[in-house]
Amino acid sequence: MSLICYSTDRKISVDQFIDLLKRSTLAERRPVQDHVRIEKMLMHANILITAWDGDLLVGISRALSDFAFCCYLSDLAVDENYQHKGIGKELINKTHEVANEQDAQLILLAAPKAVNYYPKIGMEQFKECFVIRRKS
Ligand SMILES: CC(C)(COP(=O)(O)OP(=O)(O)OC[C@H]1O[C@@H](n2cnc3c(N)ncnc32)[C@H](O)[C@@H]1OP(=O)(O)O)[C@@H](O)C(=O)NCCC(=O)NCCS
Repeated sequence: MSLICYSTDRKISVDQFIDLLKRSTLAERRPVQDHVRIEKMLMHANILITAWDGDLLVGISRALSDFAFCCYLSDLAVDENYQHKGIGKELINKTHEVANEQDAQLILLAAPKAVNYYPKIGMEQFKECFVIRRKS
């Protein structure tokens, strides 16, 4: 494995995104069978941080922010072959940096597999968090 490069502005295709979701296992919890929905997810996110090993996409953080108060990190995924090397942590740091870490609070919902991950990297768990579930 060579040096991992991070990008804050590189565009990716729907197929690249789906492929990484599968390689990270997050595909189990994302609508990867619905190309149009995944396309909308990519199109409307305003922060997309990617991690690359050469031309291979190995990590992603997809988030929505107003760059002034809040930042919702929706999808954090690292290729299984590249996990436990600090890529996830770096993707979160860069997401917060791009969202304006001075003023914007980063918020996310942990997937069951990652519940123990976020406290480990210094994130605070909030019991005051509420959700209205999607109907689909
Ligand atoms: C969760 C995920 C993004 C973490 O990415 P990563 O690059 O492997 O994480 P890092 O290397 O930054 O890990 C930092 C620390 O957390 C630990 N850690 C990593 N994954 C963990 C997990 N699932 N549970 C508990 N701790 C974990 C690492 O051991 C590391 O600690 P250490 O280096 O002090 O031992 C990655 O495992 C992943 O894509 N998982 C599948 C998809 C998923 O669940 N995404 C989250 C959606 S909310």
